[in-house]
Amino acid sequence: MHIVTQKKPEVVIAESDRAIARMGAAEIANLIQMRNAADLPTVLGLATGKTPILLYREFIRIAHEKALDFSRVITFNLDEYYPMNTHSLQSYHHFMRANLFDHIDIHPAHIHIPDGTLSRKDIANYCAEYEEKIQQAGGINLQLLGIGENGHIGFNEPGSDVDTRTRLVTLDPITRQNAAAEFGGETNTPSEAITMGVATILEAQRIILIASGSKKAHAVQQTIDGPVSTNVPATYLRSHNNVTIYLDPAAAKHIKSA
Ligand code: GLP
Repeated sequence: MHIVTQKKPEVVIAESDRAIARMGAAEIANLIQMRNAADLPTVLGLATGKTPILLYREFIRIAHEKALDFSRVITFNLDEYYPMNTHSLQSYHHFMRANLFDHIDIHPAHIHIPDGTLSRKDIANYCAEYEEKIQQAGGINLQLLGIGENGHIGFNEPGSDVDTRTRLVTLDPITRQNAAAEFGGETNTPSEAITMGVATILEAQRIILIASGSKKAHAVQQTIDGPVSTNVPATYLRSHNNVTIYLDPAAAKHIKSA
């Protein structure tokens, strides 16, 4: 049982975070099946954080059940801390291996995650190449997003403009506070990250944002009902015509229009 609003973006309020995970995972699996059947590659934009863990778990289950063919699946992750070793337990490289890539038969060369080991002077070129690789792959067919408590998407923190591209960013204090537990305190938490930009995200053909829990309720309400503004970068999703926001009741509790 879930409620759907027809406004832009489409908002789906499901009964639980598990229900969100099931719907999101099913959509991604269906897309891969459809594109495989049409002999087309599937280019996925992927997210990290606690929220997508259940979705990835469900997706792995469906992938095994349907014997999904990953030979034409190409992935681009949104972001990575900087600096960050790929083998560090806090890295998004590790997260993606542990929560998804180690469990599906994807070609390692088809996986792209921003590189947190670069020297600072190489970052700008690397980011331009990341954008080019997305284009060369044919563009992102489906982008999965979470949302930060401050309304960030990827690591596009408040202040990130609609025309931003893949780049090095300074993390917002709220983002660092939320990540501090994983890093054993705020002083150990990176202050920078490499992230796809808002414009990079908005170029995806289809976007699904998932959010659960009351800590996200304010950012979700702003995203859906608040003014479109750099203060809440997720509000830029309202300029895209193929976005669905999947919420549990706690994350949806402040929405006026639901
Ligand atoms: C992180 C990631 C985002 C993610 C957000 C929410 O900082 N860079 O891509 O959407 O925070 O994370 P969580 O799902 O753990 O609340």
